Amino acid sequence: MENYQLTLQSIHLFAVVVVCIVIAARALTLFKGTQGHLPNPAGRKLFVALQHASMTVLVLTGIVLLYLKNFEVQSWFYAKLILFAVLLSSLSKAYRKTDTVFLTQRRAGLFLAAVAMLGIIGLVMIKPNFG
Ligand code: HEM
Repeated sequence: MENYQLTLQSIHLFAVVVVCIVIAARALTLFKGTQGHLPNPAGRKLFVALQHASMTVLVLTGIVLLYLKNFEVQSWFYAKLILFAVLLSSLSKAYRKTDTVFLTQRRAGLFLAAVAMLGIIGLVMIKPNFG
């Protein structure tokens, strides 16, 4: 059981690293070779695939880890989940397919996603005790 948990945590962490790399690499498509209000189309399919796959692995391993912990979480964990929702929604805004989203709004979405990610990393490192 212990070993199992360690393996899952490693996969969880690996997915975090992949997510961070993909977010950073894809961020460039909002700055270089943009087409009107749309991001640079180069590598779009690969970015979408990697982002979806790594986020899915992150969520699935997270859920199994929760189960192994019998869902006994500290209060900061709820903040982590809220920030994760912020992360997903701001990334989906940043890369929405339609050109109704201005480039400035996309970059704002990317910025918010980065803040949410740093917030999550801060939370899991510090594990603050709220009240
Ligand atoms: C970008 C998003 C995420 C990041 C950066 C992240 C990061 C981390 C890190 C660094 C750890 C190891 C902490 C430690 O053992 O000290 C961890 C553990 C864990 N994560 Fe995540 N995680 C993310 C998303 C999620 C999601 C979406 C879930 C739930 C669905 C989740 C559930 C868990 C659980 C249950 C643990 C185990 C904690 C423990 O064993 O004490 N994580 N996460």
